[in-house]
Amino acid sequence: MENASGMDGKLVLITGGTSGIGKAAAKIIAGMGAEVIVTARSQQKGEAALEEIRSESGNDRVSLLLADLAAQAEVRRLAKEFRASHARLDVLVNNAGLYKARRTETPDGIEMTLAVNHLAPFLLTNLLLDLLEKSAPSRVINVSSEAERWGKIDLDDLQSERRYRGFPVYGKSKLANIMFTIELAERLRGTSVTANCMHPGSVNTNMGRSERGVGILLFRTFKPFMRSPERGADTLVYLAVSSEVEGRTGEYFIDREVATPSGEAYDGTLREKLWEASEELTGLKGVAAKQ
Ligand SMILES: NC(=O)c1ccc[n+]([C@@H]2O[C@H](COP(=O)([O-])OP(=O)(O)OC[C@H]3O[C@@H](n4cnc5c(N)ncnc54)[C@H](OP(=O)(O)O)[C@@H]3O)[C@@H](O)[C@H]2O)c1
Repeated sequence: MENASGMDGKLVLITGGTSGIGKAAAKIIAGMGAEVIVTARSQQKGEAALEEIRSESGNDRVSLLLADLAAQAEVRRLAKEFRASHARLDVLVNNAGLYKARRTETPDGIEMTLAVNHLAPFLLTNLLLDLLEKSAPSRVINVSSEAERWGKIDLDDLQSERRYRGFPVYGKSKLANIMFTIELAERLRGTSVTANCMHPGSVNTNMGRSERGVGILLFRTFKPFMRSPERGADTLVYLAVSSEVEGRTGEYFIDREVATPSGEAYDGTLREKLWEASEELTGLKGVAAKQ
């Protein structure tokens, strides 16, 4: 990639490195010389991915941390283990995500899509924020989706207990990714830690593969026309490494261009309330104080 600021000596943490966009991004970024840590929830899948990332990137400085991001205790353990072995963090990529056609709950009793797609990145980022600040200039990148347009943040039913439909619930979690990004960027102004998010396009990955439902059937029909994971990872890698985005923060990108998310993302009051609700649901008290 042109304008990739020297990645030698940089440390990049990518959640969900076992397949799809996360694994593709890990290969490309490791290929640029960065040290890459990927997370997985299954040791077997994680080790297989690790071997593939190392051999295809030609970089041995790729390692694995295990955590099921549906469980907040595991997110906390992940942050602790990361801190125990690393004194800095240059780029945090919150990529892991899922689609659930039917409502399920995590061991913490939280709706699964919200927990994995929004609360886990919220908690992990906040727990690693001081390392990012110490390593500044540093970057947080959240993988969102254009599906955010189907989403609506209803603070009275954040966990979709009243009505559950897979795509709007997924969209809500991806809108929450954008709102978290903008709010984080505002809270971090003046620190040289930037926060941006992106939509990877429609990408042929494992997303929703084990789910059932009409929407998923329709989604699968389009699989042959979808992007490869490498192509889907392009904007993510661009945000992680390019000097062109140095200092840019609080923005949403599609195909390396700044894009405009749906209106709710610009509602500062709603963003703050979502932040507070997320703090409550994760038991986190504001680490990133408003500047
Ligand atoms: N594919 C698309 O068209 C598309 C479009 C827009 C946005 N996105 C976003 O792109 C991101 C990556 O998705 P993908 O398309 O690459 O799908 P994918 O191939 O299914 O990869 C998802 C990754 O997240 C991990 N993950 C899921 N649940 C987890 C949990 N509870 N704990 C820990 N890790 C978990 C998966 O681990 P396992 O291997 O163990 O399942 C996998 O590594 C997601 O945030 C998704 O919302 C995708």
